[in-house]
Amino acid sequence: MSEPTSGQRPLLEVESLHKSFGGITALDGVTFEVKSGTLTGLIGPNGAGKSTTFNAIGGILQPDSGTIRFSGEEITGESPDRIAGKGLVRTFQISREFRNMTVIENMMIAPTNQRGESALQSVTPGLREDVSEQEERIFERAWEMLELFDIDHLALENAGALSGGQRKLLELARALMLDPELLLLDEPFAGVNPTLEKTLIDRVETLRDEGHTFLLVEHDMDMIMDHCERVIVMHQGDTLLTGTPEEVQSEERVVEAYLGGSGV
Ligand SMILES: Nc1ncnc2c1ncn2[C@@H]1O[C@H](COP(=O)(O)OP(=O)(O)O)[C@@H](O)[C@H]1O
Ligand SMILES: [Mg+2]
Repeated sequence: MSEPTSGQRPLLEVESLHKSFGGITALDGVTFEVKSGTLTGLIGPNGAGKSTTFNAIGGILQPDSGTIRFSGEEITGESPDRIAGKGLVRTFQISREFRNMTVIENMMIAPTNQRGESALQSVTPGLREDVSEQEERIFERAWEMLELFDIDHLALENAGALSGGQRKLLELARALMLDPELLLLDEPFAGVNPTLEKTLIDRVETLRDEGHTFLLVEHDMDMIMDHCERVIVMHQGDTLLTGTPEEVQSEERVVEAYLGGSGV
């Protein structure tokens, strides 16, 4: 298990990902690492390939080539369920069918929904545990997460009745039901008011401090620069560079990418 090298092995290693849709090259050599316990930002102009990268990592999309390793193990091309089962989860929008269910029901269903039948067992590794005991544990975790995100008072509301921002909190709380080691967040603050945005980022930082790792796509540069310890910059399907917020901001190439100066 232990690496011969001095530094700790990165939690996520993405190497040379390529993906085309018909004639469109969406990913053209994406390569980066995410260190365990960090809140890492992934930035880049619209169409840079951020969401496609997330889809490839989460197993929703097969890359044409390249490799993805999680905790040192290759996961390229595995199903989203299997990948989630290993502790790598991305948030999903609450789909139509779930909007008619209450918030707490959405939370309770999350593990089975995303991980298949084995979910209950992975939440509670004790094999012969009583089903009602398992449910109780899941219920307790659900409440814990609703409290963490300040939406416990909405537990009995239909998910469809929540504001856009509250729904974002629910999506995040639900993804955390799986107690993921790495959580991929694709623009989690879109349409969220500043107060809720602050709640969200505070909670993310708390969870980061507890050892969870986050990879965050976000357009708000101030948010990225204030809260991420590492930033990965994408442009036209490729990764330009990785660095601290200060390093990234002082890079000519980043400024150019954002101003379209290098758009060939
Ligand atoms: N399913 C798809 N079919 C065709 N083109 C796609 C598809 N998904 C993404 N693309 C294209 O791939 C490129 C990268 O898109 P995307 O990953 O969504 O960028 P970002 O999230 O950085 O804005 C864009 O040119 C986009 O139009
Ligand atoms: Mg996107």
